[in-house]
Amino acid sequence: MIICHIKKDLRPILDDLRSKNKSLGFVPTMGALHKGHLSLIKQGLHENSKVVVSVFVNPTQFDNASDLEKYPRNLDSDLQLLETLSDDIIVYAPSAEDIYDGAIISENFDFDGLENQMEGKFRKGHFDGVGTVVKRLFEIVKPDVAYFGEKDFQQLRIIQKLVEKYDIPVKIKGCEIFRADDGLAMSSRNERLTQSGRDAAPFIYQTLKAAKKRFGMESAQKVTAWVEKEFKNHDALVLEYFTIADEATLETVTKKSSLKSYRAFIAVFVGDIRLIDNIALN
Ligand code: PAJ
Repeated sequence: MIICHIKKDLRPILDDLRSKNKSLGFVPTMGALHKGHLSLIKQGLHENSKVVVSVFVNPTQFDNASDLEKYPRNLDSDLQLLETLSDDIIVYAPSAEDIYDGAIISENFDFDGLENQMEGKFRKGHFDGVGTVVKRLFEIVKPDVAYFGEKDFQQLRIIQKLVEKYDIPVKIKGCEIFRADDGLAMSSRNERLTQSGRDAAPFIYQTLKAAKKRFGMESAQKVTAWVEKEFKNHDALVLEYFTIADEATLETVTKKSSLKSYRAFIAVFVGDIRLIDNIALN
């Protein structure tokens, strides 16, 4: 496995692969790797000769200084994990200077309104930060295929839009959400949960599954009111939002149509830890 900390070292390695017509997969991450990340990396390894995994906690996508500071960082254990996975991985673990070349600030993007829903409403500037870093990473890595998890479905849709708007020559693949046996979606933030928080958290996915069942018979508004009530009655979990949205526009559903695909999205606080999840409804 090759490990690079600066793009200057990475470039000749990638140029060499390209000259040999090797297909290059890319999985951008913020580290604290778990089985969800590994499922993306394994798919990338299956479909390409080599996979670049970036490990970079991107400061510009955090709207909250304490969340950024508390974000788990375990580069040594991440590298150990990747080492056991495959020799065909190239790790890019840069500093902020190497990515941003000076000013650590976001570009402003127009993602045709996708950025104004859900995570964009509750985390100001978040998607400008994500767009900035992913666009930069695509310029550095120039992958053939890049893998993103449906765990962050809004992010996946925004990256598809970024690539379309800027005509970036990369194929974007969405990958299924990887869950623990009790249904909790894997997340680097789960590491910070207390035992009682971890015990309570599977309620999030249980509620999403129940909401999916109800959506077969009830309106989006009724299902939303039901979910809100379920969380009001829960002592350990605080609902930030639950919304049923059109997968294409991410706008909240007002009237169901049999021609559209819908998805339910949720953000929940377990103490000061914010978890998100979603489920396809049809
Ligand atoms: P991070 O949260 O580390 O996630 C990296 C990738 O792993 C994302 O595409 C995310 O959707 C995916 N992922 C996380 N948990 C998953 C799970 N349980 N199942 C499947 N995929 C999962 O998302 C980011 O980092 C950053 O915003 C980034 C794109 C790297 C830009 O900084």
